[in-house]
Amino acid sequence: MAIGRRVLRLDDVTSTNDVAKSLGKEGEAEGTIVLAKRQTGGRGRLGRRWSSPMGGLYLSVLLRPGLGSDDVLRLTVLACVPVAEAIEEVTGLEVRLKWPNDIIVGGKKAGGILVEGVSKGRELDFIVLGLGLNVNTPLEHIEAGDATSLSAESDEVIDEERLFESVVAHLVTFYKELLSGDFDEEKYVRRSSVLGHGIEAMVGKETIRGKALYLEPNGALVIRSEEGLVLRLSWVNETSIRITNNEEMHANTLRKD
Ligand code: BTN
Repeated sequence: MAIGRRVLRLDDVTSTNDVAKSLGKEGEAEGTIVLAKRQTGGRGRLGRRWSSPMGGLYLSVLLRPGLGSDDVLRLTVLACVPVAEAIEEVTGLEVRLKWPNDIIVGGKKAGGILVEGVSKGRELDFIVLGLGLNVNTPLEHIEAGDATSLSAESDEVIDEERLFESVVAHLVTFYKELLSGDFDEEKYVRRSSVLGHGIEAMVGKETIRGKALYLEPNGALVIRSEEGLVLRLSWVNETSIRITNNEEMHANTLRKD
């Protein structure tokens, strides 16, 4: 399997995830990447719109990993690592990861991952891993008010092609390691802006205050509520969190069992 063996470069699309899904349904091989300069219907988690003007990186990778639908969460969370590695390599910026899918630079959101599974009957047929990154995007063209871009944070124009190539290279290594069981989850833990912190989790209509304890191997976030209950946050489409305490607390951040 080769991520990036085929790269479909497009100017305008509604959503690269949708193009990749159509290709997947037509039997496209694993590893194909759909890359676009602009999206008119880019979307993020929780049904939010993903503002996609020129200057950003918008790509989707088609994966047929033979994994289950449970792996959608795991991929969403852990695939932030190769993206962080690529940003760090190309820009030198420090990247933090906010569970489940946010790429944070300079304390603000610069990107995110949207993983969608497509089923055939009861089986998961393939997965589309979508990445949106504000690279050289002018901040005034980004709809979300609290967002940032890599160029705004580094005060430099970023080489978009070099960043794309680096993202692909890191994704290749990540995916190989993930499938073989060799991926070192500490790479996630040390970049996490959440683990060990006080948080407020909005799960559906409910708000839970507590502390983020550790990440389960399947990507679920385990928290202890103020009432002392230990809860697993895994319903990624319904959950968002806010960090309420930036002071790092002692935390057992990764459980292998
Ligand atoms: C999020 O932060 O909620 C995830 C944003 C993911 C956006 C990317 S851009 C490429 C791909 N196509 C989409 O429509 N969404 C993802």
